[in-house]
Amino acid sequence: MTGEEGAGVMDRAAGSPPALRVRVWRGGEAGGFQEFQVPRLESQTVLDVVTYIQRNLDPSLAYRFACRVGVCGSCAMTVNGKARWTCRTHVAGVAQDDTVEIAPLNNLPVVKDLVTDMREFFDKWARARGRFTGTRSRSEDFARVSPASPARREVDAAIECIGCGVCYSACDVVTWNREYLGPAALNRAWTLVNDVRDNAQAERMAAVAGDAGCHACHTHMSCSERCPKQIAPTAGIAGLKRVIAAAVLKGGL
Ligand code: SF4
Ligand code: SF4
Ligand code: FES
Repeated sequence: MTGEEGAGVMDRAAGSPPALRVRVWRGGEAGGFQEFQVPRLESQTVLDVVTYIQRNLDPSLAYRFACRVGVCGSCAMTVNGKARWTCRTHVAGVAQDDTVEIAPLNNLPVVKDLVTDMREFFDKWARARGRFTGTRSRSEDFARVSPASPARREVDAAIECIGCGVCYSACDVVTWNREYLGPAALNRAWTLVNDVRDNAQAERMAAVAGDAGCHACHTHMSCSERCPKQIAPTAGIAGLKRVIAAAVLKGGL
């Protein structure tokens, strides 16, 4: 959690705090912002605000969440212009002049209000061969991977992705080139490239080496700056570029 998002206790003068002015995106791609007034509470998250509106002011407001504790990855939205996980983002850390603007994630089609269609995001995981392909049968012993091995350490640094789409929404290259696989799918591919048990390496390397793969990344770091799990997809993408270059030199691609 960043310091900005973790600022849970509001600094208040005596008496009631001013209501929060909340501008919420309504409708589809061609929608617009609707304004609500929401009471401010101690340790209130942006997801609390959206939930308050839906339960008390307008039950037709559409949004998505599941766990409320930073695990499921389903609550990501654009808050004051930046993609964030809303269940772990405190209002006190992001409100400006007692106002918060909440919109759906960028770079994904809007279904309704704050809900985006995540299909292209997850389709790209599949295109990047983001699925583990093992070789052992259930009758064989478990593979043993040393936690201290360099490959396992690379996996450790990238494996905690919750599939929230924050990085994808923050990536300008995705905006310019809708074929680009994007930071989350490439980060996933990097974890599998470093998985010594996986048996689809040649296929995966070919999948991420094309024009829509890792070479399209301009390394401007928005994904790594925004990821709420402190993953650095930029580092994994650089790793993919290295292993692909090595494979090309060896004639393997
Ligand atoms: S570093 Fe690459 S993947 Fe990350 S936001 Fe920039 S262009 Fe996108
Ligand atoms: S890499 Fe980070 S920002 Fe991107 S989908 Fe995974 S958890 Fe979310
Ligand atoms: S609701 Fe699950 S991560 Fe926010």
